Order: sequence, then structure tokens, then C-alpha cells
Amino acid sequence: MGYNAWNTFRCNVGKDLITGAADELVRQGLDKVGFEYVNLDDCWMGGRDRKGVLYSNQGPEQRPGITNPIQKFPDETDSAGNKIPGIKAVGNYIRSKGLKFGIYSSPINTCAAYWDNYPLGNGVGSSGKEDTDIATFISWGVSYLKYDRCNAGETGSGWNKSPSSAVIYPYFLAMRDAIGRSNSNMFYSTNLDFNGNGLAHWNGSNPPLFTNTSRVAADISDFNSVIAQINAADQLKGFAVPGYWNDMDMMQVGNLPGDNLNRINMGMWAIMNSPMLIGSDIRNMDQKNPTALEILRNEEVIAFNKDPLNTQAVVVKVSGNTQVWAKPLFARGERAVALLNKSTSPTSMTVRWSDLHLAAGEGKVRDVWSRTDKGAYTDSYSVTVPGRDVVMLKITGAEIPLTGTKVLTATDILYKANSYNDVRTDISGDGKKLALNGVAYDQGFGTDAPSQMQFRLDGACSKFTAKVGIDDQIIRQQPASNGFGQVVFQVWGDGRILAETDVMNRQQSADLQADVTGVTVLRLIARLGNNRDNAQYYAYADWITPTVTCQ
Ligand code: GLA
Repeated sequence: MGYNAWNTFRCNVGKDLITGAADELVRQGLDKVGFEYVNLDDCWMGGRDRKGVLYSNQGPEQRPGITNPIQKFPDETDSAGNKIPGIKAVGNYIRSKGLKFGIYSSPINTCAAYWDNYPLGNGVGSSGKEDTDIATFISWGVSYLKYDRCNAGETGSGWNKSPSSAVIYPYFLAMRDAIGRSNSNMFYSTNLDFNGNGLAHWNGSNPPLFTNTSRVAADISDFNSVIAQINAADQLKGFAVPGYWNDMDMMQVGNLPGDNLNRINMGMWAIMNSPMLIGSDIRNMDQKNPTALEILRNEEVIAFNKDPLNTQAVVVKVSGNTQVWAKPLFARGERAVALLNKSTSPTSMTVRWSDLHLAAGEGKVRDVWSRTDKGAYTDSYSVTVPGRDVVMLKITGAEIPLTGTKVLTATDILYKANSYNDVRTDISGDGKKLALNGVAYDQGFGTDAPSQMQFRLDGACSKFTAKVGIDDQIIRQQPASNGFGQVVFQVWGDGRILAETDVMNRQQSADLQADVTGVTVLRLIARLGNNRDNAQYYAYADWITPTVTCQ
């Protein structure tokens, strides 16, 4: 969580603007609710010195359409006469406020060199100089890197975004490796920047293998682009595993026309577990846009994003232009719920406990925007949601505890996310029995990697077992020459990997066993095993007879 000036100021940034943003975050209490990063985006670069070390644009800079020259990031001198690089001075200031500092780089040219007429962004990128640049960023106090592809790897002329993921990967892997070698805890945010949104945008790539967060869609701007981010991140829900988040871009809360739209932006970013960076103008927001500021400071909504279960919400019900979104929270029986009305008319919406994987009977409902308890309801809750708005609820109900030895297909699932289809029970995608390498099975889950399922064990179980592998559907439907569909099966307990397979190919299977003693929530994750184009297709990941032994 933090702030990034790009959406509002694009290239027109300098030291005063960025340090002023740090002041405003603190003055308006946004740091207190969790907005801790101040991230410098594009247009800070000046070039490289004779040793190849980056330096900042010293300014002042005259840009087309701007009458006053922009103060940029001049180097400074401390009281002992030592030079302080301009960006380090900015970082020092941000960190003196108790905040953290993020920066932007690209492999070759920055995007602003192309789109914003910023010539100093040409050729200033980090490709081939990753170690030097990471060392420089660390010396400036940076702990968050946004690495933006822009047109690195272009093959044609202009901006054609055609390269395959195989062409793009080396740039991002090289930076990942440099971060690894630096032994820093640099948060690594990427934008692969293929053409399109969601799955198509990713061109079959697998960013969780190399980055902490990756952009799911083209740049955010108006309300339609907010909805595009939501749809794209939803398509990619299976990729959101511990340590990796789908990046829905900087928020436009405060820049959108109307608090209803601001609520949709804020509420959906929170419940979908996106990084939350404020991209709007926060200067004097308490006077100029106090209701948007209140939306940004709503700690009960933010708590959905920070919840220790760390899960991306999924759509559990669709009706016309309305969607019920939900995710489990770490506390037993608690659910985060968003009732999203995308139509322009007020619409009555209902959330049923059964859609939330909660037992029938009484459930308590709290409206988190207004921070008020709505009372106890039986089996469901209905409310009229204004046109283009989102009601955000915390619902607390009953979960049926696991006892004895149980095959998980016969128990209440807590959460499931499957990017391509729904999770199937006891059946493969083409309607046949689940089968691994010629052997058919009666019980199990058929998923499409990347996928995730969660079950609440509540510390009452000791052992998990399953047979895993890629379903024979791949053999029925795909020639061996395709070779796609590599999967890594992982068993997680409360944020730790308890057991995992090697990268598995078609016609391989493995027995997985894990000690789940003391585990509150069990996660079964099928990750894509490779980076190749179209890696995601035909990765039919089966969990056969997944069994827990409980008290
Ligand atoms: C791309 C990114 C934006 C921003 C600009 C900077 O468009 O997607 O978020 O960083 O580059 O030029």
C-alpha cells in the first residue's frame, strides 16, 4: 500500500511534489491506515555516468505544454560538503517520515520515452546493468522496484507488443536474479505489458515464478478501465498464491467522478487483494475531496486487503449486471463480501450463506463502509445497491468442523479459484472419470492449473494425503507433441509449504503426504510448472482422494 504520482502527474514530477506527497500521506493519516510506500514512477532519470551508474534529471526541465520549468531531482550537498544524489535525497526525506521508498525502471527505454516525449528515458534502462542498478537503488534507500517492460523485446517497428513471453522473460528473470544476489528484500513489481487484458494479456506467461506482483491489464484511467482491471484480475485468480498478488494498477480513488465509483475502485482492490497504491491527487484532499479521503481511510475495508489468509475474492453469484464477490477471512466463520452493481439503476441484491460456504442458519452482517452492524439474518441477506456502487459486508456465520478421516470432496470447501473453469468434483473436464496415466478414480478434484482450494482444519487435523497428477484428459485431447501442461502440486498450511511435487508432466503421478498438525487453513495449490507460451493450456491438475485425518 502506498502512493504513486503517475496517474495524476505523469512526467511532471520533481522533488517537491514527491516529498510533498510524503508530507500529505502523514498529515492526512493515510500512513496510519497502511499506505506506507511513496513510489517514484517514470521521468526521474537523467542518464548514466562514466561508470554506468544512474543519475537523476537535474532539471529544471521545460516540457511541451508546461509553461513553468519543472524542478526535477537535483543532486544536493550535505553540511560536510558531500554530494547526495538527487534521488537519495528524496528517499532520505521519505524515510525520515517513517515511510518506504519505491522506484521505477525499465529494461531498455522507459515508457515515457515513447508516450510522454521524455527523451532521457531512451536507452537508460537496466538490461545488462541489473546488479549496478539494484546496488544504486539500495544505496538510495529503495525497497520497491517497479520494472516496466515498455517496448523491450519489440521485433517490429513502433509499438507492436508482439513478442512472445519467451522473448520477454530474460529481462525479468535477469532483474529477479540481481535482486536475489543483492540479498535485499526488494519488493519486485512487474508489468509485462503484452497487448490486451487478463489471460490474453499474459500471453501464456507465468509471472508468479519470478515476481511479487504483475500488472493484469492496460493502464487504469476511467471507470471502464476500473472494470477492465477487475475482470482481468478475476481471470487470473488462480495465479494469486502466497507471495504473489495480481496488480490491478494504481487506484483512481478521488480521480473518478463520484464516490460511488471511488467505492468500487477502493472496495474491489481491497477484497481482490491487489496492491493498493493511491494514484490520485492527495494534496489537500481533506479540503478538496474529503469524502474520497474517508473512502481511502476506511480501515475495515483495508482490513480485507491485509487479512492474514491473504486470498483474492472470487465471484460467487452473477445476475445480470450484478456480481456477488466473496473470500474467506482468517478468523473462523468470517467472510468478506462485495455486492457489486455495475448497472446504472439501483438493484436489489442477495448474498446467500450457501454461496459463502457457510452453514445454514444465523449469520451476523456488518456494513464496512458505514462501520455499522446490520444485525443477524437467517440463510441470506438482501439490500438495494445504488446504481454503479458496491456494498461491502463482513458476514460471520457457522462453519462445520472437520472430524475423523474425511475425503475432502465430501466436506465443505472454504475457497476455490480456478482460472479456466470451475473446480470439478469426481469428474474430468470432458465428463469422463478422473484418470491418471490409465488408472481411473472415483473421488477427487479436477482443476485447471493454476488453481487453488482452501479447507479450514482449525488445528484439529494431523495428516493430509492425496495422489496428484495431470489428468488423462490431456491424452484424449492433445497430441503428445504439444507437451504442454506442466504442474507443481503444493500443500500449504498457514503460509508455509508443507509438501510439494517436482514439476510434473503428462502421464506422471505422485503421492503427496503432509503433516498438518496445528494448521488452521489448508491450501491445495496447483501452480504452472513452466514459463512457456501457452503453458497454462491443458494443465488438468487432479487431486485424487484428498484425505485429512482429524480428531
Ligand atoms: C506504463 C505503465 C504505467 C507508468 C508508465 C510510465 O504505461 O503501465 O503505470 O509506469 O508506463 O511511463
